[in-house]
Amino acid sequence: MALLMGIDTSCDDTSCAIVEDGRQILSNVVSSQITEHSEYGGVVPEIACRKHVENIVGVVRKAIADAKCELNDISAIAVTKGPGLVGALLVGIGVAKAIAYSQSLPLIPVNHLEGHILSPFLASGVNYEFPFVSLVVSGGHTSLYVVRELGRYEAVGRTVDDAAGEAFDKTAKALGLGYPGGPVVEKRAAKAARSIELPSPMIKHDSFDFSFSGLKTAALNYIRFELEIEPNANCGDAIDTDAVDSLCAGFQDAVIDVLLYKAFRLSEQRKIPIVALGGGVSANTTLRERFISRGKQDAVRVIFPSKPLSTDNAAMIAAAGFHRFVNKEFADSTLDAEPNLPL
Ligand code: KG4
Ligand code: ZN
Repeated sequence: MALLMGIDTSCDDTSCAIVEDGRQILSNVVSSQITEHSEYGGVVPEIACRKHVENIVGVVRKAIADAKCELNDISAIAVTKGPGLVGALLVGIGVAKAIAYSQSLPLIPVNHLEGHILSPFLASGVNYEFPFVSLVVSGGHTSLYVVRELGRYEAVGRTVDDAAGEAFDKTAKALGLGYPGGPVVEKRAAKAARSIELPSPMIKHDSFDFSFSGLKTAALNYIRFELEIEPNANCGDAIDTDAVDSLCAGFQDAVIDVLLYKAFRLSEQRKIPIVALGGGVSANTTLRERFISRGKQDAVRVIFPSKPLSTDNAAMIAAAGFHRFVNKEFADSTLDAEPNLPL
């Protein structure tokens, strides 16, 4: 039995987890910085970095206490090396190095995206089955992979501009709905009597790449010209309308349409009957329902992480570090952050 400590400080959540043998979560502490960033409508890197420094020691202590173990019981430290905000990543890496050095433990660098890819199999009782199609859909990424085995990821498509979560965040910001945008847009969409039609970008395009900046612009134009609200201004009561609910529903539908289309087209083209999702946007209830229903129709198994494991967390980093632990893929004390680390 191996207990891995995972640490993730790639963006605006400070997280530490203890995971047994890559599958069983003993603790998973996530300290969110939403209140610090919400007034800016997005993550401010300098604030994120400072809050990680303030939070990290308490988060690590709580992860050990929640797991009812001691530092002596830990077999290795897995930490996010990238991609992410450089100043934020460095906080987690610095702490991971310090613990590894002081306890003489191996240090395992993990790609944050590998964490999201493997998250549907964490604590779910679902065993790995290869190959599978993976759709990572978060605030920083929207990417499609074919996963051949642990550690072998074929990148098939990615966003050429904004990530899907980023488009949710920017649209919510334009409406003055706060940060993060996904959950609030989802809530408003659920109240909508109708869904306005917005273009589903690149849906007919042959490639598996995504683009969300055109959709975001279409939403901004709708806000300005149809709703007659100045985007990003203080909208006051102007946003408490059915028309805004309908816009949120239309926006959400357009994002889901293109994600669904491309993920299932890849599954069909490669004859791979498993689609696994991860990343913050995969917490969206309507997205889940539509993927599950399409999966039933096409006899494709659809797998999601639990909602808390969809958004950033360190348990997925410990889980992704486990197979690297088994293969002894360790880093030394020169380990550095790589903000654009490719998978
Ligand atoms: O995976 P994550 O926590 O961080 C990144 O790695 O980026 O994803 C955060 C993103 C944000 O853009 C947020 O608006 C979006 O996930 N998100 C959602 C929902 N919950 C979070 N988007 C749509 N619907 C949701 N329920
Ligand atoms: Zn993430």
